[in-house]
Amino acid sequence: METFERWESEIRGYCRAYPTVFATASNARQVDEAGKSYVDFFAGAGVLNFGHNDPKMKAAIIDYIQSDGVAHSLDMSTTAKRTFIERFAELVLKPRDMDYRMQFMGPTGTNAVEAALKLARKVTKRSNVIACSHGFHGMTIGALACTANEYFRGAAGIELGNVHRIPFENAPGGGVEQVNELRCAFADPSSGLEPIAAVMVEAIQAEGGVNVASKEYLHALQQLAHEQGALFIIDDIQAGCGRTGSYFSFDGMGLDPDIITLAKGIGGFGTPLAMNLNKPEHDKHWSPGEHTGTFRGQDLSFVAGTVALDYFADDTLMQAVAVKGAQIRERLETLCAEHGGKGWQVRGKGMMQALDVGDGALAKLVAKECFERGMLIGPCGSGGRVLKMIPPLTIPDSDLAEGLDIFATALAAALEATA
Ligand SMILES: Cc1ncc(COP(=O)(O)O)c(C=O)c1O
Repeated sequence: METFERWESEIRGYCRAYPTVFATASNARQVDEAGKSYVDFFAGAGVLNFGHNDPKMKAAIIDYIQSDGVAHSLDMSTTAKRTFIERFAELVLKPRDMDYRMQFMGPTGTNAVEAALKLARKVTKRSNVIACSHGFHGMTIGALACTANEYFRGAAGIELGNVHRIPFENAPGGGVEQVNELRCAFADPSSGLEPIAAVMVEAIQAEGGVNVASKEYLHALQQLAHEQGALFIIDDIQAGCGRTGSYFSFDGMGLDPDIITLAKGIGGFGTPLAMNLNKPEHDKHWSPGEHTGTFRGQDLSFVAGTVALDYFADDTLMQAVAVKGAQIRERLETLCAEHGGKGWQVRGKGMMQALDVGDGALAKLVAKECFERGMLIGPCGSGGRVLKMIPPLTIPDSDLAEGLDIFATALAAALEATA
């Protein structure tokens, strides 16, 4: 660890929670250089939906490199990009009768959010956007203005503006009624409210504490946006790409977002890729290269991302997600019931499930106890009080069972230590 402590920036985060040096990884396992194996229930913060080093993706990347495939291409056309686009249209868009243009940008979620905000502002010629309490949308200034977390906002160094904040559905004061009241207020020409360019929301807030929005709530937000001539943006960067049991976290709800932001899992292998799906009538407002970026052509990610799309060619993986998600939930509910009276809550959908223990210090201790016993888990939510489980969707049953057992033991140890 000395090298990191001596030379790497103070900004280091996750390595402080997981104080070891990892050497290898395979599916839902990471092994450190001392040979200790960890079950990974964090999966690169939702990047590794298909596990570490998926053999088919690895083989496809190696083949591509060995055949001198183009690794970096700005946004030039490449065979790898064309194959990805065609496969995405075939397996994700067409079956849902969705007509969107795919926009690639710098390959991080925050860049996808910046692009979405910029497009909404261009289309509407307005500045303000509505974003929710507990929402997490990234760290660059435009996205950070929409992110709610006070710790991250505090590092901005400038005022974060042009966002009208509303409480998320399960936050105090939030819900369909609140959105309807806001709709009435906006309908009043003398409300004093600034017109909005967009309403942006995560259908399931991931970093914000695994808060699941109802269909009714999302429809109310969509209606608010459209009544105001604003764009409805769903940030599916963490909850999308199969995590919740179907490709999009909002599948089956009859929603019609103007922009969908995607990143994290879409590169398949863990190499970066970000993509927005823009309605064609909005997309035409872009001029060539207006939201440019050197790393828009992530060809290794296109290659692995195309292989990842095969997981959506039939419903085998999504059925497994339903089964494993139910197993995780059941175990968390049992633990919650065993510790009844503490006001804990289980929340989630598919294979994003969480236990809210209402106490950041306790959650941190549980995560530490998990780490010591060979399991990686990341706290999230207000004050870090929510223990979020997002293992790879491909986790073997035995690793899932082992991870859940470790979690139960770690929870008991943490409670005993704080009793
Ligand atoms: C919903 C959501 N949006 C945006 C982001 C930002 O993505 P990135 O960290 O790749 O910039 C994240 C990251 O956790 C996220 O969960």
